Amino acid sequence: MDTANQLASGGTFQVLKLPLGFIRVLEWLFAIFAFATCGGYTGQLRVSVDCMEKASSNLSIGIDFGYPFRLHQVSFEAPACEATRRERVFLIGDYSSSAEFFVTIAVFAFLYSLVATVVYVFFLNKYREISRAPLIDFTVTVVFSFMWLVSSSAWAKALSDVKLATDPDEVQLLIPACKIQTNKCGSVHGARWSGVNTSVAFGFLNFVLWAGNIWFVFKETGWHKGASRLAGGASEKQAGTFNQQPYNQGSFEQSGSYSSQGQPSEYSEVGGPTSYSNQM
Ligand SMILES: *[C@@H]1O[C@H](CO)[C@@H](O)[C@H](O)[C@H]1NC(C)=O
Repeated sequence: MDTANQLASGGTFQVLKLPLGFIRVLEWLFAIFAFATCGGYTGQLRVSVDCMEKASSNLSIGIDFGYPFRLHQVSFEAPACEATRRERVFLIGDYSSSAEFFVTIAVFAFLYSLVATVVYVFFLNKYREISRAPLIDFTVTVVFSFMWLVSSSAWAKALSDVKLATDPDEVQLLIPACKIQTNKCGSVHGARWSGVNTSVAFGFLNFVLWAGNIWFVFKETGWHKGASRLAGGASEKQAGTFNQQPYNQGSFEQSGSYSSQGQPSEYSEVGGPTSYSNQM
């Protein structure tokens, strides 16, 4: 009933204008771009083998590969430069673990941020009532930030190795006929990388989004509310006991003595956070 009324007035979608909700929407959009550009990749390189006996040459050998980059399973037929005999040549390397890890993280990040967006829009009051919900949200957000960083780094490294392993100049060296001086091998063209390069960029962009949202989710947790309350109490108490010291409010050495409250008071001095929490 309550939700229905809010929905009718369009009020519930206001949460999407807050950083917390807005970043969640960007998160699942960019997660889609990340796994689509990586998981949907196919590329082709082309080499030529020009044998001394022209009849057995093949000047356009296409080699297709793509996600999940199990290059050791990618093979092609190259002329052996002996009559019409051909031989099967395999590429080298298996980069599937990094590629699949990246896509898996992207898919789960997409699902989580989509569900979180739905929860914020339709169940924001429940989300704030159940104190455990923001805590879980906070923990999951921290974990995904870390996972985006790790998987994007791993994928960036794997992709640079894939580029090397599928370089036509390198692939030529795998063809036995090309080891014979009298046969000439060349590269016709390499694979296009622009699409899959953006997957790495989207990966790191997602890391920035998730890491940035840690702060906004943190503000929904009881820790932040408890912290500002504690810090407020502490500074009042501090002012009462040490009011002969004019600089006690801003002094970090002073707050250092309150080891359990040092952290919160540091946050409260930032200024920004308190004004944000008033907005919400
Ligand atoms: C050259 O190799 C391709 C495979 O990339 C094959 O389809 C084509 O038939 C070959 N051409 C000749 C002349 O053998």
